[in-house]
Amino acid sequence: MTDMKQEQMEKHEAELWGQARQLAKALTLDEKIGMIHGAELFRTKGVKRLNIPPLVMSDGPVGVRQEFQPDKWSAMGNTDDYVTYLPCNSALASTWNRKLAQEEGSVLGAEARGRGKDVILGPGINLKRSPLCGRNFEYFSEDPYLTKELAVPFVQGVQKWDVAACVKHFAVNNQETERLWMEVKIDEDVLRNLYLPAFYDVLKKGGAYAVMGAYNKLYGEHCCQSGFLLNEVLENQWRYDGVVISDWGGVHDTKAAADSRLDIEMSVTSNFDEYFMALPLKKAIEEGDISEEKVDEKVTRILALMMRLHMMDGNRETGTYNTESHRRTALKVARESVVLLKNQKGCLPLSSQGVRNVLVIGDNANRTHSNGGGSAEIKALYEITPLMGIKKLLGGNVQVDYVKGYEAGSEKGESEVNWQEFSLENGGGATNAASCQSQESAKAQETLLKEALKMAPGYDQVIFVGGLNHDYDCEGNDRADMKLPYGQDRLLKELLCIRPDMTVVIMAGSPVEMGQWISMADSLVWCWYGGMEGGTALAEVLYGQVNPSGHLPESFYKTHMDCSAHCVGTFGKPDFAEYKEGMYVGYRYLDAYRIEPEFCFGHGLSYTTFFCHGGRIVTEGEDTFLSCLVTNTGDREGAEVVQVYVRPAQEEEGKPSLFQELKGFEKVFLKPGETQMVFVKLEGNLDGKRIAVGTSSRDIKILL
Ligand code: BGC
Repeated sequence: MTDMKQEQMEKHEAELWGQARQLAKALTLDEKIGMIHGAELFRTKGVKRLNIPPLVMSDGPVGVRQEFQPDKWSAMGNTDDYVTYLPCNSALASTWNRKLAQEEGSVLGAEARGRGKDVILGPGINLKRSPLCGRNFEYFSEDPYLTKELAVPFVQGVQKWDVAACVKHFAVNNQETERLWMEVKIDEDVLRNLYLPAFYDVLKKGGAYAVMGAYNKLYGEHCCQSGFLLNEVLENQWRYDGVVISDWGGVHDTKAAADSRLDIEMSVTSNFDEYFMALPLKKAIEEGDISEEKVDEKVTRILALMMRLHMMDGNRETGTYNTESHRRTALKVARESVVLLKNQKGCLPLSSQGVRNVLVIGDNANRTHSNGGGSAEIKALYEITPLMGIKKLLGGNVQVDYVKGYEAGSEKGESEVNWQEFSLENGGGATNAASCQSQESAKAQETLLKEALKMAPGYDQVIFVGGLNHDYDCEGNDRADMKLPYGQDRLLKELLCIRPDMTVVIMAGSPVEMGQWISMADSLVWCWYGGMEGGTALAEVLYGQVNPSGHLPESFYKTHMDCSAHCVGTFGKPDFAEYKEGMYVGYRYLDAYRIEPEFCFGHGLSYTTFFCHGGRIVTEGEDTFLSCLVTNTGDREGAEVVQVYVRPAQEEEGKPSLFQELKGFEKVFLKPGETQMVFVKLEGNLDGKRIAVGTSSRDIKILL
C-alpha cells in the first residue's frame, strides 16, 4: 500500500470511530442493551429512531444457512433459501491454493449479502489437534501457517461484499466432548506459538471484522468472557478493534461478560431479555455494580462495524446467490481438493473407452451431505453425488449400476426436533459410543455385502465410494476412534480379494484407519465433503479429465493412538484436556519422533511427474525466498505444491532433531515439459535453520 493510501485509510478509520462514538452517545441505555445481545436467534435489535439497523447473522462456512423462525429452531420452510453449497474448509485447505480460498470466500460473502446478512459465522480456523474432533471438516488444517495462508484470503473474499466474516472459535476449541464446560490445560507458550498465531494473522493481517469466542474454558475462564483471552491478548496485546461475538450460549456470567471485551451475547434459547447481557446487565448498571461505559465501548464497536459494512450510508455492495459463476467456483475448488493418495501400476485414471459397464458400491456414492454436520448444515440448491457425477460423465452409453454394499442408517432429513435447541444440555457435546450392531442390522449388512461380492466380478470397472458422513463428522460429537464404520473394513477386504483392481474412494471430513485393506488396494482417492459439484469433480479426477493436485492439509495417522493428543496428552475427556504434547502436534510430532503415518502431511499424487531442482535462498530487502525450478516431466498438464519446511540446523537441546515446520508454499501449474522458476516467500527467523523443500513433509527433494 502506498503511503498516501495508508494515510487516507487511517483518516477514514479515525472519522468512522469518531462518528460511532458520537452516535453511541445519542442512545439510551435500553437501546444500547438491545444492540449487545440476541433479540432473535440470529439477530440483535436495531434502533429505529436513529436508523440503526439490527445486525443479521447466519452460519456458516459451506454456504449461507437456511432461515429459522426468529425464536424457534424450526426452519421457515422457505423456497428462497437454497444456496450454493461450497466445499468444506478441509477440502479448501487441500487445494493449497490461496487464490481459490479468496474466490470461495467471495462466493460466501456475495451469497451472504444476497441473502441480506451482515455477519457470516465463519470460517472456523481451529487447529486439528486430533483426527477425532467432530468439527474437523469445518477447519482447515493441523498447521497454523497453512490455516492462515488460506483463511486470510478467504476472509478478504467474504468482506469485499460488505459482509463481516466472524472467525471462530477463539480459542483452543479442539474437541466437542463437553465443549461447554471442559477446560483446556495448555502451556502459555504453546498457546501463543501454535494455537493463537492463525487467529492473530486472520484478525489483524486479514482484517476480519468479527471473531466468535469458543465454548470451552481456558485457564479457569470461559473463552467467551475471558479476561485473559479477550482483554489481555485480543484487546491489549493485539489491539484488535473488531466485534467479539459469543458462541451461542457461551456466556455464563453478567459481570464477567460485561467486563470482558465481548461485544455481543448470542444464545440458543428464546428468553432473549434474560440473556446475561440483557436485563440482568441493565439492572447491574442501574444498581451501580457495572459501569455504563462498558456498554458504550461495546456499542461503539458495533456501530463502527456497521459503518465499515456501509449498513447506514446507502453505499453498500449488493450481493447475489445461486449464480452460475458461484457454482463454477464451487467446482473449481472441488476439483483441486481431491487428493490422490495411492496410484500403483498407473491404475488411475480410469479409461472410459471400450468400457461396457461399471459397478459403483458404497453409501457415500449415493448420499448427499449438505444438510448435516450441525450449524454448518445448509439447504443446497443441489448436490451432485459421486454416483451422479460418474453417470453424468460416462454419458449414458455405459451401464452404471449401483449397490450399497453396507448400510449407513437413514439419511438425516428435516427433523421436527432441532439439535441446536438442546445444544446447551449435557455439556453441549459428547463422544460417539463405539458402534455396536444389533442382530438385525448385522443381518442386513451381511445381505448387502454378499450382494456386492456377487456382482463385483461381472463388471469392467468397480468403484467403491465409502467413508464417513455427518453422523460422524458432526458438531457436538467426537469420534471414539478412527475406524471405518458400518463394516466397511470387511467389505473392502473381501471386495479387494476378488477385485484387486477396484478403485477405492474415501469421502470423509477426517482420516480413517486403513490398515486392514490399504496394502490390497492399488488406488486410493480421498475426497472431503466437496460441495454441490463434489461428485462432478470426483468423476473428472477418476476418469482423467482433471489431473488431481490436492495435498493433505493434515496427517493421516494409522490409528488415533499415533496422534500426540491421544498418546501424550488427553482428548475427549469431560472435564479437561491436557495439551501435554506441547508444540508436537500433527506432523510436528510424527516427524520428530519418527512415527510412520498412513499418509503424511502434504502428501498428494498427480497423473504427471515433477522434478524439483536448483534450490537457493534469495533475499530481497527484509524478505527471504526459496527459489527453485520445477519441471513437469510427464505428459499431462498438472500442478505441484512446493512446500518449504524449516528445521533446526543442529539438534537443539531437549528437542528431537526432526522438528520441522511449514513456513512457505507455492502451487505451480505446468504444461507437459514446462519448467518454471518458483519463489516461495519464507516466514519467520531462519537463523541457524535448514531449509527442506519437498512435495510433502516427508518427500524432501532439496535440503539447504
Ligand atoms: C456453533 C457455532 C455456530 C453457532 C450458531 C454454535 O453451536 O458452535 O459455530 O456459529 O452455533 O449456529
